[in-house]
Amino acid sequence: MFQLSEEGLQKVQTELKRYESRQSAVIPALYIAQKENGGHVTSEVIDHLSQVMDIPVSRINEVFKFYTMFNQKNVGKYHVQICNNISCVLNGSRELTQHILESFHCKLNDMTLDGKLTVSSVECLGACGMAPMMQINEDYHENLTPEKAVEILKGLK
Ligand code: FES
Repeated sequence: MFQLSEEGLQKVQTELKRYESRQSAVIPALYIAQKENGGHVTSEVIDHLSQVMDIPVSRINEVFKFYTMFNQKNVGKYHVQICNNISCVLNGSRELTQHILESFHCKLNDMTLDGKLTVSSVECLGACGMAPMMQINEDYHENLTPEKAVEILKGLK
């Protein structure tokens, strides 16, 4: 059964005090819990947050399911999120995605067999002027070509 660590619980309490509305702390709380749960959020995580934050499960779920930064299943060591919105698509993100999937013999949203990568297609990540782009964990990589993207991914340890 999932429970936040003491440190995680402290961080969530700090977030709850930061905002006028408890609901405003749901995003940072989910982010903290996701990190502590190995990179994804389960129904147990949501139940626990609901208890410690005194917010209904449904209110936490609506935030969790809206944002692609929260993972509904386990992801690889490197979570590769490729923007699939207008600027990126017009600049080749679909071809880039396909090239990555073929190069690493994987399917969208499935972890590679070695547990290293999960490739996802996501909405705009706010770097439209540098399209096409991808986010690897916390880092942005911009102005990509399919070859450059695969080279970056092959260089990950
Ligand atoms: S459209 Fe790709 S970052 Fe905005």
